[in-house]
Amino acid sequence: MTMSMAATHAKGKKAKDNIFVMNSRAQEDAKKIGKENVLNGTLGSILDENGDIVFLKTVEHEYLNLPRNEYVAYAPIAGLPEFLDAAISECFGESKPDAYLEAVATAGGTGGIHHLVHNYTNPGDTVLTADWYWGAYQQICGDNHRTLDTYQLFTPDNTFNFEAFKAKATEIAAKQENVVWIFNTPGNNPTGFSLTEEDWDKVISFAKELVAKGKNKVIIACDVAYIDYSGEKQSVRRFFKKFGNLPKEILGVVCYSLSKGFTMYGQRVGAMIGITSDKDVHEEFHEINQLTSRATWSNICRPAMRTMANIVHDPAKLAAYEKERNEYCRLINERAQIFVEEAKEVGLPCLPYCGGFFLTIPTEHSKEVVEELTKEHVYVIPLGHGIRVAACSIPKRQMKGLATTMHTIMKRLGYL
Ligand SMILES: Cc1ncc(COP(=O)(O)O)c(C=O)c1O
Repeated sequence: MTMSMAATHAKGKKAKDNIFVMNSRAQEDAKKIGKENVLNGTLGSILDENGDIVFLKTVEHEYLNLPRNEYVAYAPIAGLPEFLDAAISECFGESKPDAYLEAVATAGGTGGIHHLVHNYTNPGDTVLTADWYWGAYQQICGDNHRTLDTYQLFTPDNTFNFEAFKAKATEIAAKQENVVWIFNTPGNNPTGFSLTEEDWDKVISFAKELVAKGKNKVIIACDVAYIDYSGEKQSVRRFFKKFGNLPKEILGVVCYSLSKGFTMYGQRVGAMIGITSDKDVHEEFHEINQLTSRATWSNICRPAMRTMANIVHDPAKLAAYEKERNEYCRLINERAQIFVEEAKEVGLPCLPYCGGFFLTIPTEHSKEVVEELTKEHVYVIPLGHGIRVAACSIPKRQMKGLATTMHTIMKRLGYL
């Protein structure tokens, strides 16, 4: 038994990061044979067609030209007020729900997920999400002594499996008062799937039925990290309207992030936005989440908040920023379509892509296939039940042929 100084609850914790490992392998390979000969589809950041990381020029210009004070001063714990207004405005667009809305600044979207789990479930409780989920959900739940449980996201026809969701949610609701459901939509990581408006109607009707029984409080969380790369701005936001005028026992929490939409991944800025029809719940949301910020990271990155607020509050800057961002949204979509169409042609199964940074090929042999792919200098991410391909980072010239390569390898290994 190895020596440990960790407290009982912390013993054995480990942050396994296979994304980082695969990315390092791709980079090593690139050093040997040249960057242009390696396909690196591991990371969740936008790379341009030359393989360089994108910093939107409109954002970069604003960020690098702030007054000196903005770089060094503390920000309020809850966030700069102008940023919080801007976050609400950008997050909802024309679809602001008819409800009390409250935003609290968080360390990226991740920070919002943390506060959601920490403040809206009890230790020992179970949090529910779909079986295709972002690994950090599990880590945040585990680190906070909660369990993450999942339902099958897809029906055999690759549509939202409402019945599977309902069954699991019902089971959990029988055991605990507060239930937290996390939906990563639109543009789910890792599949690119988005719930339709009809799917949302079913989820919300079910939440209403549940709270009407008088036992449960329901917290519906929307992780919208990829919303700006998931389709036309106003149409992908329309579902937010459904969170207006809900019973007071239903709280909506949107985990909003500047990482992707404003290409400021490393600045660690986001906001959690509470949607409620109850004034007390609204005030409580502000207080408890602000306190948890104070007790974890204190305040977040002021210059990034200021940058975003300045852009959003200036119509000309906002228009220029959106134009630039939309070009990358289109580029990612074109890359994804190259893959999807080729996959269809060659007969490679692919989960339904609606938007976002990633695509997924379902397989129970992801490790073996990914290892074979590295021999062809192709680096993608093995998941428990599939392979994740980062459309955000693979140039079109490399995207062409990728589905065929994957298909050939999977056939050769006998997995198709
Ligand atoms: C599904 C999902 N949610 C949230 C995030 C939040 O990222 P950040 O904490 O950088 O805002 C990510 C980033 O990878 C993600 O993939």
